[in-house]
Amino acid sequence: MDFSGKTVIVTGAGGGFGEGIARRFASFGANIVAADMRADAVGAVANDIASKGGCAIAATADVTRGADVAALAKVAIDRFGKVDIVINNAGITHKNRPMLEIDEETFDRVYAVNVKSIYLSAMHFVPLMRAAGGGVFVNIASTAGLRPRPGLTWYNGSKGAAIALTKSMAVELAPDRIRVNGINPVMGDTGMLQDLLPGEDSEEVRARIVATIPLGRLSQPRDIANAATFLASPDSDLITGICLEVDGGRCI
Ligand SMILES: NC(=O)c1ccc[n+]([C@@H]2O[C@H](COP(=O)([O-])OP(=O)(O)OC[C@H]3O[C@@H](n4cnc5c(N)ncnc54)[C@H](O)[C@@H]3O)[C@@H](O)[C@H]2O)c1
Repeated sequence: MDFSGKTVIVTGAGGGFGEGIARRFASFGANIVAADMRADAVGAVANDIASKGGCAIAATADVTRGADVAALAKVAIDRFGKVDIVINNAGITHKNRPMLEIDEETFDRVYAVNVKSIYLSAMHFVPLMRAAGGGVFVNIASTAGLRPRPGLTWYNGSKGAAIALTKSMAVELAPDRIRVNGINPVMGDTGMLQDLLPGEDSEEVRARIVATIPLGRLSQPRDIANAATFLASPDSDLITGICLEVDGGRCI
């Protein structure tokens, strides 16, 4: 796959799926703007990509803040002149708990990071893509929005919103040649897993989750990166408004 000359913004690129996605696009020649609110983490990822011959810059941004997302767009334009692909990956969950034990502040934060961020990225990147004659969004949603597990109710709802927004943006932006797709990963081996698991992380708890995934393993950043590059490439140029399950069969 060749992404030479393409500018790719990846949010939440300081670790987990976002780091894997940024590294994969970089390996295919893209110019990466790796964004995260953890400046040290995302700086280390961008430096490592650059030290291996890739092209990446780090941007510190909280995706829930309009001013930060505006600054992110400006950094990309100043450095690379355009924005071709935006991967809305940054996300958080509340801890796996009975639904009535999640406080209002936590609920608001989950919706700000997982849902409002999509609104803000549309506000700041759609005008750039329109002016350029097209573009691609890939929103990292979750199987949680399709096949919810107990204990994650408010997180599940936020991912349901991400799926609906993906489809709605796709149909509204198609005349602008802007494609909008999503990815629904099954539980993955990242920093977030500790909060998603129903109980303390242990071999036994992981085995219970793996037993619900027909192909018998958790997802890894490389799985999500493979789907993201496909959905951002011309190989998928008639595909818009889908949320692709990368889930080992969990949602069958
Ligand atoms: N890990 C899973 O099991 C799983 C499954 C399905 C979907 N997802 C989704 O995949 C995406 C990536 O998750 P992950 O598993 O890699 O998690 P992670 O916690 O390993 O990484 C998330 C990254 O996002 C960053 N981030 C958090 N809030 C931010 C904000 N407001 N602004 C900017 N950056 C912020 C964090 O600093 C971190 O680097 C999320 O949207 C998550 O909901 C994860």
